Amino acid sequence: MDSDASVFLIGFMGCGKSTVGKYLADQLGYHYIDTDEVIVERCHQSIPDIFNESGEGYFRDQETLALCQVPLKQHVIATGGGIIEREQNRSYLSDQVVVYLKTEWETIVSRLQGDQARPIWQDSKRDKQHLYYQREKLYQQTSQIVVTTDDKSIGAIVHEIITKFEKISIK
Ligand code: S3P
Repeated sequence: MDSDASVFLIGFMGCGKSTVGKYLADQLGYHYIDTDEVIVERCHQSIPDIFNESGEGYFRDQETLALCQVPLKQHVIATGGGIIEREQNRSYLSDQVVVYLKTEWETIVSRLQGDQARPIWQDSKRDKQHLYYQREKLYQQTSQIVVTTDDKSIGAIVHEIITKFEKISIK
């Protein structure tokens, strides 16, 4: 793996991809991209509006498009929690440096209390805990680096990612 390869962050909603991603990009001297932000800019709509007006399928199409267009060198990319649902996205990610930010279910629940911005989290018909465990397997399968985030500072998480990233870069 190239030592200046882009780094993709995956994990469930609320695992800290954006916060960790910005700090990691800063430490590596890389640019930062959030696939959700790419979609919002392209569609000129918020994520809840996209879900409401065009549906989840449309959002997922936009997400795949955004994923395949991000630069593959010197960027840190925070992805949406559902990016691993499509086999096409998992297959694309299998050639990239992918870091799974693993966070306990209880931590996610406490972090997302009162959240209004995530349509999947607001959806009362969906069993979110079941979704969490379903996705957990896909995050594991899709990543070469796993870092747990519960009870760790952002600095400690980023330090751990960089150490593991350097190890796989020199292989
Ligand atoms: C989603 C997670 C969100 C966003 C969208 C769908 C999901 O991103 O992409 O609301 O399916 O888990 P975050 O993981 O950054 O919250």
